[in-house]
Amino acid sequence: MEDEAQCLAYAKADFEEENQSFVTLFRDSYPEMTEGHVLDLGCGPGDIPIRFARTLPGCRVTGVDASAAMIHLAEAAVQAAGVADRVTLRCERFQSLQLPEPADAVMSNSLVHHLPNPFQFWHQLKRLVKPGSCVLVMDLLRPESPEAAQAIVDRYAAGEPPVLRRDFYNSLLAAFTEDEVAAQLAELNLSRLLIDVPDDRHWVVVGRLY
Ligand SMILES: C[S@@+](CC[C@H](N)C(=O)[O-])C[C@H]1O[C@@H](n2cnc3c(N)ncnc32)[C@H](O)[C@@H]1O
Repeated sequence: MEDEAQCLAYAKADFEEENQSFVTLFRDSYPEMTEGHVLDLGCGPGDIPIRFARTLPGCRVTGVDASAAMIHLAEAAVQAAGVADRVTLRCERFQSLQLPEPADAVMSNSLVHHLPNPFQFWHQLKRLVKPGSCVLVMDLLRPESPEAAQAIVDRYAAGEPPVLRRDFYNSLLAAFTEDEVAAQLAELNLSRLLIDVPDDRHWVVVGRLY
């Protein structure tokens, strides 16, 4: 997302419930993780890193996003939220990200459908964290047809501005199916990570990376 208007519309959209559920799912999946360094790949305008830092105050978060416009929004939001001591932001493509030492956990919400080559994502994920690290990756689930995608947009984004409705529709059609994600995990020897489909429009991958 390089377009500033699109980034602003995304930042202003109400993802409160979805983003808080994502952070709560991380906390509930890994109750033993109360400190350490957590990566957020494709952190967007920073809402998830901020919620994460508030929910797990012993953790440090590094949010990574390829879009300068998104990172500027995230920097302002992190400052305003008063969590800049625990949230670091980096404007980089995750594909070329280098860390001084591997992280203790990795999370990512709504990035994978942006990627022409999702294998790169799972490969990098393995490279960026320590063995035994906690993983939480969530994204949209591709519906069976354009009509089904439109029905989901109408059901869940009826009141959103046209730019977001269009983005949601295109994102649904660019997303992967459960079988496709399972095949990606198998290809990268990540079959110990578990994929679940919690509702009609998302998949989620949870597990420790051994
Ligand atoms: C739909 S947004 C999700 C933002 C955030 N995770 C959230 O849930 O609110 C996807 C983000 O991924 C970023 N992105 C896309 N390709 C990327 C890449 N190769 N490396 C890092 N970030 C990328 C985009 O700039 C965008 O901010």
